[in-house]
Amino acid sequence: MDSVGLVILAGGEGKRLKLNIPKPLAPLRGKCLIDYSLELCFNFLKDKKGEVSVVTGHRREEVENHITNRYPKVHFALQKNQLGTADALKSYFNDVSEAKKHKYTAVICADTPLLKASDVDVLFEKLTKQNLAAIAATFSIDTPKGYGRIVRAKKGFSIVEEKDSNAEQKLINEVNSGLYIFKTDYVLQHINQVQSTNAASEFYLTDLFQSDREVEAVLFEDGSRFLGVNDIYQLNVAGRKLNKDKAKSLMENGVLVLDPSHTYVEDEVEVAAGATLFPNIYLHGKTKIGEGAVIEAGCVIKSSQIEAHATVKAYCYIEKSIVGKSASIGPFAHLRAESQIGPEAKIGNFVETKKVKLAKGVKISHLSYIGDAEVGENSNLGCGFITCNYDGANKHKTVIGKDCFIGSDSQMIAPLNIGDECYVASGSTINHDMPSGSFAIARERQQTKEGMARRFIKKKDSSK
Ligand code: UD1
Ligand code: MG
Repeated sequence: MDSVGLVILAGGEGKRLKLNIPKPLAPLRGKCLIDYSLELCFNFLKDKKGEVSVVTGHRREEVENHITNRYPKVHFALQKNQLGTADALKSYFNDVSEAKKHKYTAVICADTPLLKASDVDVLFEKLTKQNLAAIAATFSIDTPKGYGRIVRAKKGFSIVEEKDSNAEQKLINEVNSGLYIFKTDYVLQHINQVQSTNAASEFYLTDLFQSDREVEAVLFEDGSRFLGVNDIYQLNVAGRKLNKDKAKSLMENGVLVLDPSHTYVEDEVEVAAGATLFPNIYLHGKTKIGEGAVIEAGCVIKSSQIEAHATVKAYCYIEKSIVGKSASIGPFAHLRAESQIGPEAKIGNFVETKKVKLAKGVKISHLSYIGDAEVGENSNLGCGFITCNYDGANKHKTVIGKDCFIGSDSQMIAPLNIGDECYVASGSTINHDMPSGSFAIARERQQTKEGMARRFIKKKDSSK
């Protein structure tokens, strides 16, 4: 099979974005802008032979580090000065040793996150079937300003950049998308002849398309996928489109998304059929939501697993945690990293957990902090319970057995071991281990003095 060298052009500065980060690293739905182009390339290569390269320039170390961490197989070329897109492609052929050996070369911009591998497939099929030298993807747009115009001739076409176009050409609505595939021989034969005698004094890759050559422009009906991200507004437009697509695919798979335009779900999130997502929720990273689970309004869930039929009530924040089957969380609960909440457990309002393992049926219904702890099956921790896990320097563990009843407003000063079926009276500060079946009370004895209240109750001065 003939191989394809895919090149992502990412040398530009991205000034219009006005962010103090290189444009390829602009944040988009938990990933970076360039990740979308990389994913497209690797998807395209699933059933083909080839390799992926990126031309970098501006702040290249940061861009290359990011890419290498995610895609170790990517090759890099350095464009020292940003002299234009043709110059960027020259750097690729100079720096990537295998570049000239691929029969075809596909060029993709780093800032078109909505493009799909299937779009590249369409171009590739046409190029190979018709044995063309080069092919470009084009689309129609009402406001073509800024894009290269497609000037069609009897045979072939050419591309005229906005800056170089005359009044008549400016009216053309068919524009260049920036996605091309070439026969590699064709590029090598002509790229050195590209001149920078144009309004921008740049070496334009688009000059490889000349009306007397075996080139073709394919007009794509849905131009929205070619959206180029140049500023934060366009970044947002792309993000919303991707989010809408994700919500649509969830709904197609049986997830009840109550208000898709206000439900933020990143691409790696998995939601099982029959789950319900309320509006204004944020599901990040590799989060998994099980069948029949309900996530109510205002929840933020990051890299966590919510198992089947669990309910996360309104306004919870859950991070790197597991919520077991049919458990109930919130409203207003905070599960910090490494919280494992057992099946049928109940975590109520204003409860914070961190690094805990709570067994089946544990109840912590109100206003508590539980950190570095294990709690056995069906134990009930009353309102205002606190594990005092930190001594100012180190964290210590609290272990509570099963079927315990810990009265309200109690604290446990870790490290501590409380056996099974223990009972702690309300308001106790526990700092000694308790054997199974024991009772502990650790609070001041109450004294009641009859009639003494009047000494303390102050009356308001009604004359003031
Ligand atoms: C380019 C096309 C234009 C098309 C538009 C679509 C050319 C000459 N023009 O214009 O016809 O309608 O895209 O969005 O190609 N880059 C480098 N090195 C450089 C210059 C650019 O790596 O020296 C990279 C950029 O990082 C970017 C891509 O190439 O990813 C496109 O460059 P840009 O300058 O944005 O081209 P446009 O003016 O948008
Ligand atoms: Mg551009």
